[in-house]
Amino acid sequence: MIDPTVIDSWLSTVEKASKIVVLTGAGISAESGIPTFRGPEGYWSIGSQEYHPQEMATFSMFLREPHEVWKWYCYRRSVCAEADPNPGHFALVKLEELLQDRFVLITQNVDGLHFRAGNSPDRTFQIHGNLNYMRCSQECSTDIYPIPDIIPTTPVTKDFPHELTDLLRCPKCNQLTRPHVLWFDETYNEEFYRFESSLNTAMKTDVLLVVGTSGTTNLPNHVVHTVINQGGFVVDINIEANIFGNLAKTNNGVSIQGPSGKILPDLVVALDNQS
Ligand code: APR
Repeated sequence: MIDPTVIDSWLSTVEKASKIVVLTGAGISAESGIPTFRGPEGYWSIGSQEYHPQEMATFSMFLREPHEVWKWYCYRRSVCAEADPNPGHFALVKLEELLQDRFVLITQNVDGLHFRAGNSPDRTFQIHGNLNYMRCSQECSTDIYPIPDIIPTTPVTKDFPHELTDLLRCPKCNQLTRPHVLWFDETYNEEFYRFESSLNTAMKTDVLLVVGTSGTTNLPNHVVHTVINQGGFVVDINIEANIFGNLAKTNNGVSIQGPSGKILPDLVVALDNQS
């Protein structure tokens, strides 16, 4: 149950706002059964060695062990393929429907669940990419391709069969492709990850909803600080106390502690009832 004074602040600020932005992290997909990035489930074994996602999700690992990295992404795709959008995702679809061009969604999630729920690609910035897509690892072009359906989305335990590897080739130059995701040893850009678009949007944001993120990555931090510095209203939704919740409380905003699958629908229903 959200404090009624929080609902009142939310409704009155949205009413006056020309831009309402939602920034999501792994927490929104946790209720769909996708483990958050910093949970214990993400380890991957190569031989007798255990690797953490922070080591697997790097270009340097891809250069050393491209097939292992692809196998790990097949495993991660299998987890996402089994998951369905939850009420938190659907609430954001309804929010977009209510706000139309006043709405932008900035997501760190690569699981594609916002699109499967129904948010529009035009108003969604996938700032860490999408693991259902691939691109040339040599960047012979900036084209992005859907990963062929035949590539398994079941956990891969054995070596990739060669005929599958052949399907992970760039159609233009025949080099191996890579997953279309931002890795830990890489930097944001506009072309693939909407870096400038996100910052420009932040500069115009009147209300920012921050949902299920631990605040450990660079661009989300810029977005939140930009909105706060210009006096925007920040609503943080998280099951735990966290850095963005503290920032919201000590500036112009509120922190709502609870699961996004419950809190987001309540906020959106309140808005829908008012309109
Ligand atoms: N509702 C709301 N918040 C939740 C829920 C839930 N049901 N479940 C978990 N959370 C919160 C956690 O308390 C935590 O603050 O979601 C956050 C998840 O944090 P991370 O696992 O660090 O995920 P995220 O912030 O998205 O990570 C950012 O870092 O690892 C890279 O590229 C990766 O996109 C990822 C980025």
